[in-house]
Amino acid sequence: MEIPIYLDYNATTPIDREVAQEMKQFIDSHFGNPSSSYTIGRFNKDAIRLARNQVADLINANPDEILFTSCATESNNLAIWGVLKGKQGKHIITSAIEHPAIIEVCRHLETQGYEITYIPVDKFGSVNPQDVENAIRPDTSLITIMHANNEVGTIQPISEIAAIAKKHKVIFHTDAAQSVGKIETDVSKLGVDLLTIAGHKLYAPKGIGALYVKNGVEIQNIMFGANQEKGIRPGTENVIHIVALGKACEIAKRDFDKNSQNMLSMRDSLLNGLKKNLGEQVKVNVNLQKCLPNTLSVAFDKVDAHTLASVISKDICISTGSACHADSIEISSVLKAMNINIKTAAGTVRISTGKYTTSDEIDSTIEIISKTILKLNH
Ligand SMILES: Cc1ncc(COP(=O)(O)O)c(C=O)c1O
Repeated sequence: MEIPIYLDYNATTPIDREVAQEMKQFIDSHFGNPSSSYTIGRFNKDAIRLARNQVADLINANPDEILFTSCATESNNLAIWGVLKGKQGKHIITSAIEHPAIIEVCRHLETQGYEITYIPVDKFGSVNPQDVENAIRPDTSLITIMHANNEVGTIQPISEIAAIAKKHKVIFHTDAAQSVGKIETDVSKLGVDLLTIAGHKLYAPKGIGALYVKNGVEIQNIMFGANQEKGIRPGTENVIHIVALGKACEIAKRDFDKNSQNMLSMRDSLLNGLKKNLGEQVKVNVNLQKCLPNTLSVAFDKVDAHTLASVISKDICISTGSACHADSIEISSVLKAMNINIKTAAGTVRISTGKYTTSDEIDSTIEIISKTILKLNH
């Protein structure tokens, strides 16, 4: 199968060759259970220990602060439910632009007697830390606000919000599924209590995640079983994927400057090329100074994003900012929260570059998108 130019790295990333190589020995031969005391068991236990160190190293945590999970959705669920189980207070603060892996947990909690404050965002998708402080109540048990948004790339002022949470003695979680590996995610600088990591957004496979839980922060298990991951996340460890996440984190740290520079320069060349060809028709939805280096949420005036994405789909993979139904358009909750009008939202695409994006791919993308838009406008 020939793969089109892939510019949807926020959806998922390919597995890094070095990561795949590391996984191979655990597929081919080292199949032991890490809890077994004989050699092939202990080999797996050591591999998990190394992976825990590698993940911790990337985010400047202690290895014993890392729990392996199956994905970011699970990490978010564990963070929220696991913290709430030990708390009386039934009030939670989150933002209006979280991923469904947070929003849907909150919506469910509302049916269980919890009250949720959804902090609004400005026109660029930014949360104002003062709004978070104003929302804190005596019964607030948790604040959960994402580090960077998956659709538009806006980076939130996490360290400021964390300082507010700390001042009011409220636990603070951030969903960093999109930021880890793209921007600095040092848990000590950020000041967070819990942080979610997703393997398949940083060149590890799908089906592996991690949750950073700061030492001293109380979290309870939400699944019951044996004592793996301190009993907080029981179940025989997914060694192959854990090893992969560890290696991916090691590479993300080693190649950080090179990769983030590539993502940024590819994203910016793309935007400049589109602006050169299409001029005023190109409208960026966010403040690029406070945005992930790889993400471009852009609206094309007078163009339906679905038509554009589908016309170019055999050559280029990108995603859109709205969902198309039989006779209506539903704009994404993120664009809605940013107060983006329906016409702009309907013309919005998300283009996200990655460490493998090349200038040739960007040049072809500029040409194909520009030609298609000019054709669609006639
Ligand atoms: C910000 C954010 N959080 C959570 C998730 C959920 O990740 P997964 O589907 O791997 O659990 C995603 C996936 O797109 C995401 O972008």
